[in-house]
Amino acid sequence: MSENSKNLPLLPIGVFDSGIGGLTVLKALRTRFPEESYLYVGDTARLPYGTKSPETVARYAQSIAKCLLNQGVMAIVVACNTASTHGLAAVKEMAGNLPVLGMIDPAAESAMGATNNNHIGVMATFGTIKSGAYTHALTSLDPAVKVSPVACQMLVALAEEGWAEGEIAKSILLRYLDPIFDRQDSPDTLILGCTHFPVFTSLLKEILGPDIALINSGEAASAKLESLLIDRKNPERPEAKFLVTDDPVRFADNALKFYDSRLNPDDVTLIDIR
Ligand code: DGL
Repeated sequence: MSENSKNLPLLPIGVFDSGIGGLTVLKALRTRFPEESYLYVGDTARLPYGTKSPETVARYAQSIAKCLLNQGVMAIVVACNTASTHGLAAVKEMAGNLPVLGMIDPAAESAMGATNNNHIGVMATFGTIKSGAYTHALTSLDPAVKVSPVACQMLVALAEEGWAEGEIAKSILLRYLDPIFDRQDSPDTLILGCTHFPVFTSLLKEILGPDIALINSGEAASAKLESLLIDRKNPERPEAKFLVTDDPVRFADNALKFYDSRLNPDDVTLIDIR
């Protein structure tokens, strides 16, 4: 990402996701850069992306990028790991000189910095895992790294249901993670390679204990924007706006599961993206 911070226009940072989970990434961005404005697009009409083909996800990602570019943004953050996997290249091509940030490489770099035993677990959607994107990103940083990926698509629904704690969530997490962690040679680092998974952080800590480093892909990616935003003149009144492709009321009602503040339904606008 180029470092032309002083020249970046006073526009919001565009953030997009397949739906509501990307609010965990927006939360990480706002925590790090509270002085910036944000324009968030949630493709609630077409989620989940995690079970769709690479071609479909890339097409959806392009249509949202087009929307953000039309609205006017100073950078695009592809919050959705599945869209980062299948659509990042296409979005970058559309965006030209505009900075575009995905989740996969920053999370992989952060995980490589955290691991001591060079064994990294990856939890993500079916599509992200099937693509091998994280394995590829990690092994291009260190060909000797051992990667244990697991597709955890059901956790997306569980998080949206608000079941991030309790016995049901615990037994489902164990079902996914036991094959990786319940053995001698287990990872010491786990990438939460999906927008929804940070909501399971407390439970994961309880299950895995304090010695396993958890990598929040949104936080890792946010750190990458630091060099871009340093010295930048900020908007006078920073704000966050939300656009969704279906059911703004449901989006606002569910936001608190993934975000740090309530959303007023009036702040969420329905848009039509074709
Ligand atoms: N946003 C997706 C991701 O981070 C998870 C939800 C979905 O499958 O659309 O991969």
